Amino acid sequence: MTEPAQFRLERLTEEHHTSYFDCGVKSLDDWLASHALDEQDQGRSCTHVWADAGGCVVAYFTLLPTTIVESDSGIMSILRPARFPRTSDLCGVLLGKLALDQSLRRQGRGNDLLAEAFVTAYEAVQLIGGVHLVTDPRDEVRGFYLQFGFVELEGTKRMFLPMREFAEGGTPL
Ligand SMILES: CC(C)(COP(=O)(O)OP(=O)(O)OC[C@H]1O[C@@H](n2cnc3c(N)ncnc32)[C@H](O)[C@@H]1OP(=O)(O)O)[C@@H](O)C(=O)NCCC(=O)NCCS
Repeated sequence: MTEPAQFRLERLTEEHHTSYFDCGVKSLDDWLASHALDEQDQGRSCTHVWADAGGCVVAYFTLLPTTIVESDSGIMSILRPARFPRTSDLCGVLLGKLALDQSLRRQGRGNDLLAEAFVTAYEAVQLIGGVHLVTDPRDEVRGFYLQFGFVELEGTKRMFLPMREFAEGGTPL
Protein backbone atom coordinates (compact mmCIF):
# COMPACT_ATOMS: atom_id res chain seq x y z
CA MET A 1 0.00 0.00 0.00
CA THR A 2 1.33 3.48 -0.87
CA GLU A 3 1.99 5.82 2.06
CA PRO A 4 -0.01 9.06 1.92
CA ALA A 5 2.15 11.97 0.73
CA GLN A 6 3.63 14.15 3.46
CA PHE A 7 4.09 17.85 2.95
CA ARG A 8 6.50 20.20 4.66
CA LEU A 9 5.35 23.67 5.63
CA GLU A 10 7.17 26.41 3.67
CA ARG A 11 6.81 30.13 3.39
CA LEU A 12 5.35 31.03 -0.02
CA THR A 13 7.98 32.12 -2.55
CA GLU A 14 7.93 32.97 -6.23
CA GLU A 15 9.31 29.48 -6.93
CA HIS A 16 5.98 27.89 -5.93
CA HIS A 17 3.36 27.10 -8.58
CA THR A 18 -0.03 28.37 -7.51
CA SER A 19 -2.11 28.28 -10.69
CA TYR A 20 -3.09 24.58 -10.35
CA PHE A 21 -4.45 25.02 -6.84
CA ASP A 22 -8.16 24.18 -6.61
CA CYS A 23 -9.85 24.24 -3.20
CA GLY A 24 -13.35 24.55 -4.63
CA VAL A 25 -13.71 28.20 -3.64
CA LYS A 26 -12.61 30.33 -6.58
CA SER A 27 -11.94 33.49 -4.58
CA LEU A 28 -9.46 31.57 -2.39
CA ASP A 29 -7.76 30.01 -5.42
CA ASP A 30 -7.52 33.39 -7.14
CA TRP A 31 -6.24 35.13 -4.02
CA LEU A 32 -3.38 32.65 -3.71
CA ALA A 33 -2.45 32.95 -7.38
CA SER A 34 -2.80 36.73 -7.71
CA HIS A 35 -2.40 38.41 -4.33
CA ALA A 36 -0.68 36.29 -1.68
CA LEU A 37 2.88 36.99 -2.76
CA ASP A 38 2.28 40.72 -3.34
CA GLU A 39 0.72 41.10 0.10
CA GLN A 40 3.63 39.25 1.63
CA ASP A 41 6.17 41.41 -0.19
CA GLN A 42 4.36 44.50 1.11
CA GLY A 43 4.54 43.17 4.66
CA ARG A 44 0.75 42.97 5.03
CA SER A 45 0.47 39.24 5.65
CA CYS A 46 2.47 36.04 5.46
CA THR A 47 1.42 32.91 3.60
CA HIS A 48 2.68 29.40 4.31
CA VAL A 49 2.09 26.50 1.94
CA TRP A 50 2.35 22.78 1.52
CA ALA A 51 3.83 22.00 -1.87
CA ASP A 52 4.37 18.74 -3.76
CA ALA A 53 7.76 17.59 -5.10
CA GLY A 54 7.31 19.76 -8.19
CA GLY A 55 6.60 22.88 -6.14
CA CYS A 56 2.85 22.92 -6.83
CA VAL A 57 0.94 24.28 -3.85
CA VAL A 58 -1.61 21.85 -2.38
CA ALA A 59 -2.60 23.84 0.72
CA TYR A 60 -2.02 27.27 2.22
CA PHE A 61 -2.83 29.57 5.07
CA THR A 62 -2.28 33.29 5.54
CA LEU A 63 -1.62 34.98 8.88
CA LEU A 64 -1.47 38.66 9.80
CA PRO A 65 -1.52 40.71 12.98
CA THR A 66 -4.83 41.90 14.37
CA THR A 67 -6.06 44.01 17.26
CA ILE A 68 -9.34 43.52 19.07
CA VAL A 69 -10.61 46.85 20.35
CA GLU A 70 -13.33 47.67 22.84
CA SER A 71 -15.72 48.81 20.12
CA ASP A 72 -15.75 45.30 18.63
CA SER A 73 -19.27 44.57 19.91
CA GLY A 74 -18.31 44.68 23.59
CA ILE A 75 -16.47 41.38 23.35
CA MET A 76 -13.39 42.63 25.18
CA SER A 77 -14.86 41.82 28.56
CA ILE A 78 -15.40 38.22 27.47
CA LEU A 79 -12.06 37.79 25.76
CA ARG A 80 -9.76 39.67 28.11
CA PRO A 81 -7.66 37.15 30.01
CA ALA A 82 -7.28 37.37 33.79
CA ARG A 83 -4.84 40.09 34.84
CA PHE A 84 -4.73 41.59 31.31
CA PRO A 85 -4.74 45.41 31.62
CA ARG A 86 -8.21 46.89 31.03
CA THR A 87 -6.70 49.84 29.18
CA SER A 88 -4.85 47.76 26.61
CA ASP A 89 -6.23 46.46 23.34
CA LEU A 90 -5.98 42.73 22.81
CA CYS A 91 -3.46 41.75 20.16
CA GLY A 92 -3.63 38.50 18.29
CA VAL A 93 -3.12 36.80 14.99
CA LEU A 94 -5.74 36.77 12.24
CA LEU A 95 -6.01 33.61 10.21
CA GLY A 96 -6.99 35.44 7.03
CA LYS A 97 -7.14 32.47 4.65
CA LEU A 98 -6.85 28.70 4.90
CA ALA A 99 -7.53 26.24 2.11
CA LEU A 100 -6.71 22.71 1.03
CA ASP A 101 -6.74 21.34 -2.51
CA GLN A 102 -9.88 19.27 -3.18
CA SER A 103 -7.73 16.22 -3.99
CA LEU A 104 -6.63 16.03 -0.33
CA ARG A 105 -9.96 16.55 1.40
CA ARG A 106 -11.52 14.46 4.15
CA GLN A 107 -8.36 12.67 5.26
CA GLY A 108 -7.77 14.77 8.35
CA ARG A 109 -5.38 17.05 6.48
CA GLY A 110 -7.56 20.12 6.97
CA ASN A 111 -7.10 19.64 10.69
CA ASP A 112 -3.35 19.14 10.21
CA LEU A 113 -3.18 22.37 8.21
CA LEU A 114 -5.13 24.29 10.85
CA ALA A 115 -2.84 22.85 13.55
CA GLU A 116 0.18 24.11 11.59
CA ALA A 117 -1.44 27.54 11.30
CA PHE A 118 -2.08 27.53 15.04
CA VAL A 119 1.51 26.56 15.89
CA THR A 120 2.90 29.17 13.48
CA ALA A 121 0.71 31.85 15.09
CA TYR A 122 1.70 30.61 18.52
CA GLU A 123 5.40 30.91 17.65
CA ALA A 124 4.79 34.48 16.50
CA VAL A 125 3.07 35.50 19.74
CA GLN A 126 5.86 33.90 21.73
CA LEU A 127 8.13 36.49 20.11
CA ILE A 128 5.92 39.56 19.95
CA GLY A 129 2.95 38.97 22.27
CA GLY A 130 -0.68 38.26 21.50
CA VAL A 131 -3.61 36.49 23.03
CA HIS A 132 -5.93 34.94 20.45
CA LEU A 133 -5.99 33.33 17.06
CA VAL A 134 -8.94 34.93 15.28
CA THR A 135 -10.74 33.99 12.08
CA ASP A 136 -13.79 35.07 10.06
CA PRO A 137 -14.91 31.81 8.49
CA ARG A 138 -17.34 31.28 5.67
CA ASP A 139 -20.67 29.99 7.03
CA GLU A 140 -20.10 26.59 5.39
CA VAL A 141 -16.97 25.87 7.42
CA ARG A 142 -17.82 27.21 10.86
CA GLY A 143 -18.25 23.61 12.05
CA PHE A 144 -14.70 22.83 10.96
CA TYR A 145 -13.34 25.56 13.26
CA LEU A 146 -15.71 24.65 16.08
CA GLN A 147 -14.56 21.04 16.17
CA PHE A 148 -10.98 22.30 16.45
CA GLY A 149 -11.80 24.36 19.53
CA PHE A 150 -12.53 27.84 18.16
CA VAL A 151 -15.34 29.58 20.02
CA GLU A 152 -18.14 31.74 18.68
CA LEU A 153 -19.17 34.93 20.42
CA GLU A 154 -22.65 36.39 20.23
CA GLY A 155 -22.78 39.60 18.24
CA THR A 156 -19.85 38.82 15.99
CA LYS A 157 -19.14 36.43 13.14
CA ARG A 158 -15.54 36.15 14.31
CA MET A 159 -14.29 32.99 15.97
CA PHE A 160 -11.55 32.91 18.58
CA LEU A 161 -9.05 30.40 19.86
CA PRO A 162 -7.19 31.46 23.02
CA MET A 163 -3.46 30.87 22.77
CA ARG A 164 -2.69 31.28 26.46
CA GLU A 165 -4.34 27.95 27.25
CA PHE A 166 -1.91 26.32 24.85
CA ALA A 167 0.99 27.90 26.74
CA GLU A 168 -0.44 26.47 29.95
CA GLY A 169 -0.73 22.95 28.56
CA GLY A 170 -4.42 22.99 27.58
CA THR A 171 -3.67 22.23 23.97
CA PRO A 172 -6.53 22.09 21.46
CA LEU A 173 -4.34 20.07 19.09
C1 LIG B 1 -12.03 23.66 5.35
C2 LIG B 1 -11.10 22.59 4.83
C3 LIG B 1 -9.65 23.00 4.99
C4 LIG B 1 -11.35 21.27 5.61
O1 LIG B 1 -10.52 20.27 5.07
P1 LIG B 1 -10.89 18.70 5.18
O2 LIG B 1 -9.78 17.92 4.62
O3 LIG B 1 -12.22 18.49 4.60
O4 LIG B 1 -10.97 18.55 6.75
P2 LIG B 1 -10.58 17.28 7.66
O5 LIG B 1 -10.70 16.01 6.89
O6 LIG B 1 -9.24 17.54 8.28
O7 LIG B 1 -11.71 17.36 8.76
C5 LIG B 1 -11.42 17.57 10.11
C6 LIG B 1 -12.71 17.56 10.86
O8 LIG B 1 -13.48 18.72 10.49
C7 LIG B 1 -14.76 18.32 10.02
N1 LIG B 1 -15.11 19.19 8.91
C8 LIG B 1 -14.43 19.36 7.75
N2 LIG B 1 -15.07 20.26 6.98
C9 LIG B 1 -16.16 20.66 7.67
C10 LIG B 1 -17.21 21.57 7.41
N3 LIG B 1 -17.27 22.26 6.27
N4 LIG B 1 -18.17 21.75 8.37
C11 LIG B 1 -18.12 21.06 9.53
N5 LIG B 1 -17.13 20.18 9.84
C12 LIG B 1 -16.18 19.99 8.92
C13 LIG B 1 -14.58 16.88 9.56
O9 LIG B 1 -15.78 16.17 9.59
C14 LIG B 1 -13.59 16.35 10.56
O10 LIG B 1 -14.24 16.04 11.78
P3 LIG B 1 -14.00 14.61 12.48
O11 LIG B 1 -12.53 14.56 12.81
O12 LIG B 1 -14.88 14.66 13.68
O13 LIG B 1 -14.37 13.60 11.45
C15 LIG B 1 -11.39 22.28 3.33
O14 LIG B 1 -12.71 21.82 3.23
C16 LIG B 1 -11.22 23.49 2.42
O15 LIG B 1 -10.10 23.85 2.04
N6 LIG B 1 -12.35 24.09 1.99
C17 LIG B 1 -12.34 25.16 1.00
C18 LIG B 1 -11.70 26.41 1.51
C19 LIG B 1 -12.39 26.95 2.74
O16 LIG B 1 -13.61 26.98 2.86
N7 LIG B 1 -11.53 27.41 3.67
C20 LIG B 1 -11.98 28.04 4.88
C21 LIG B 1 -12.06 29.49 4.61
S1 LIG B 1 -12.94 30.31 5.89
